[in-house]
Formats: sequence, C-alpha cells, structure tokens
Amino acid sequence: MEYTLMHKNVAVAVLEIFEDTGTILKTLELMRPEHLPLGIRLTPQGKPETKAINDWWSDRAIPSTRQGLRDFLELLHIFSTAELLPKCFGLSLSDQYWVRPSNKPLEWRDVNFFENEFSEDVGNALFGRAADGELDLMSPDNTSDGWLKKKWVVADGKRLLIKGGSPILYQEPLNEVIASAIMRRLGIAHAPYTLTWDASPSALETYKMPLSACEDFITPQTDLVSAWHIRETGKKPGHISEYQHFLARCDALSIPGARESLDRMLAVDYLIVNADRHYNNFGAVRDAETLEWLGLAPIFDCGTSLWYDAVVGAIRPRAEQKSKPFRGKHGEQIELVTDIAWLDFPALRGIDEEYSEILRQSPYIEDNRRDVRCIALRERVAMLERFALPRAAAVSEPEPESDDEDDWEPEL
Ligand SMILES: Nc1ncnc2c1ncn2[C@@H]1O[C@H](COP(=O)(O)OP(=O)(O)O)[C@@H](O)[C@H]1O
Ligand SMILES: [Mg+2]
Repeated sequence: MEYTLMHKNVAVAVLEIFEDTGTILKTLELMRPEHLPLGIRLTPQGKPETKAINDWWSDRAIPSTRQGLRDFLELLHIFSTAELLPKCFGLSLSDQYWVRPSNKPLEWRDVNFFENEFSEDVGNALFGRAADGELDLMSPDNTSDGWLKKKWVVADGKRLLIKGGSPILYQEPLNEVIASAIMRRLGIAHAPYTLTWDASPSALETYKMPLSACEDFITPQTDLVSAWHIRETGKKPGHISEYQHFLARCDALSIPGARESLDRMLAVDYLIVNADRHYNNFGAVRDAETLEWLGLAPIFDCGTSLWYDAVVGAIRPRAEQKSKPFRGKHGEQIELVTDIAWLDFPALRGIDEEYSEILRQSPYIEDNRRDVRCIALRERVAMLERFALPRAAAVSEPEPESDDEDDWEPEL
C-alpha cells in the first residue's frame, strides 16, 4: 500500500509498504531529500537506498532484545513488531517522522502523540498485562527502543517514559535516579528520572517493581537523532579513532558544543561505570522544521551501571571496567576527556549517602548489596578526582595512590 513518509507537516517521500510485514518495498518518489531521516544514502538514481530506509524503519519497531518480547508477540498474535508500525502510522514521542496512508488525508496535528491522546494497551501488554477485547494499537510504545520493559503515559498533561529494571535486582530504575542526582549536582544537561512503583504487580510477584519515570525531552518542534545515525553520515577513515570520527561527524553537521557535552557524558559514565553507552543511548537534538542542530541530547539511559548485575564479591571499582562506545575500558575512555576543570568535586560530597537512601527503598537490594555499591561509588569519585587533579592544575604529578585493584576492600 502507498504511504507518504512525513516529517511533521513536510511530505518527504512516497513509499510502498507491505503491511503484512511492515516492510518498505520501495520509494516511489522523493520530494524533500533534506528531510529524510539522517544518514539515509541515495542511489545514483536519486532514490533512498531501499535497505537503508528499511533499516531505519525497522529500527523504529520494538527491538527483538526487548524483555518479555515472546509473550508480547503471542499476546498480540503477531510474528514481528515491525507489523505494528503502520498501525500507529510509525508515530513516536522521540521525533516527528510518520507515514500517512495515501488514501487518508491525515494531518500531523490530529494524530501526533505529543498533543493527542494515545492508548496504553500496547504498553500494558509489554508489561505482561493484556486488556480485555481487542487492543487499541494507536500507541507510541510501538516505536520505543531499548531492551527494558517500558511504556509511555500521560500524567498532568506531560508525556512520561516509564521503565522497568532487570531481574534479579531491578536496580536500573534506582540507578537512573542517582545518575540524575550526580548530573544535577554537577550542572550537566540530563533527563531527570524519578522513582515510582508498579501500582498493580502481578500476583506472582512478591514485591512491587521499582520503575523509573522520565519526562519526554523532545517537543513537537524537535527530533532526537541517535549518535548511531550521526556516526553513519560518513565512513570512518582507518587512521582515526571512533571518538575522532564521531566528533568529526558532529563538526560536519555543525552540532554545537559536541566536545563539551561528550566530556560530561564520559565523566559521568566513568563515575557510574556505565556498561551500555552504545550509540543509541546518546544522540543529538535538532529542530524538526528548520533542521538546525541544537546540540547533543540531554543525557538519558544511565541505568545499566553501578554493578547492576553483579554479585557483591565481583564489585571491584578499581578493576578495569568495560565501557562503550569509543573505547572498551573506562580507564582508557576517560582519557578522551579534553577538559575536566568544570567538574566540581565538592558538589559530589555525600553522593554515596544519597545513593544509599535511594537503594534502601528497594526490597530487592539487601543491606550488604546496598553498602558495597555505595562505597564503590564513593571510590569511583575518588578515582576520577585523582585523574582530574593534575589536569585541572595543568601540572603533571605522579599518581598519588596506586589504582591496584587488590588495594580495594569495601569496609562493610
Ligand atoms: N525522555 C525521553 N524523551 C524522548 N525520548 C526518549 C527519552 N528517553 C528515552 N528516549 C528514547 O527511547 C529510547 C529507549 O529508551 P532507553 O532509556 O534508552 O531504554 P533502555 O534502557 O531500554 O535502553 C531511547 O533510545 C531514546 O530514543
Ligand atoms: Mg537505551
């Protein structure tokens, strides 16, 4: 069936979509190439590459890694989540793209989820709760990314993304809250998360589930563009690093303040030992109408951090920790930070106590698990301070203390 790919009110291209699978078969006409999703290459005939536009489109669907996906597919009697995309016109709460059936004269103002109501049926089904009768599929949850269970809700007129955690500790929502506190204290642009609790846990669950809630930082006027699509706007030359390539792409697109924003993100990720800052967990924001870049997005998705899946004995803050996206180890990735003088260490005093108060609320995290994480966070702050001090003073001093992992023992 024929659809028009829309960018808010701009008709970008005419597509043929096979609705049974949600696949884009071809582009019939391209009207506004500058409004195509970022990074989609054109064929020599001037049409978007079918694979590229399909990769972008299928990436909009709920990913195959989403927790509980099998149950969700069974519940909806569908084979793949891409089938759901045309059912909500591909609308999202993270950008302004959508597809308009050629036989329906729809307007953006009447269908977008920023200003119109939407169904919670899909979100509830993703959390394992089926509504009675036929589900209303008009939902931004059909286009949400990421592996954790999540759903969009409207509260006091605001769009909030509600996210769960992973078994057995369900620590991610609590980590989102402490990461927000760290960034608030340091004056870093971030999406603030609060803690909430699943109001209707299933009878099979012993405790209520902790959830994080975060307001939509995208408005009807803006698009979130993932770092992945920014990275893909050019081929990385072999002689430059991932980091240099990403910065070069940001420069080429004239994204303001990218280096400064990355300095902040890498410092926070070092502190919280973020294990999952892949290229879809950061990005940039642009004006959806003028296409002007506003800067990197406020930092979001910091939950997969702070030993969220570790047993107590494996929590060794001084040991080398895996990192993404530019280098494989946090000890090396932090070296990419070009300026750290902005980091106000006194503002982080007592952050371990604040973390303790947050973790204490969860019945899934027993005292010893809580204590070792808080002590380890304090140690990460001390390590970053040792890294930063000689740089801030612009003198090279020997490392004041050994970072030997065996030196560290939590005093529980
Ligand atoms: N506050 C927000 N406003 C707008 N879009 C968001 C917001 N938070 C997340 N997103 C979008 O939703 C996607 C999934 O959210 P994320 O927090 O990364 O989930 P997960 O922890 O499962 O990876 C993100 O990659 C981003 O595109
Ligand atoms: Mg994510």
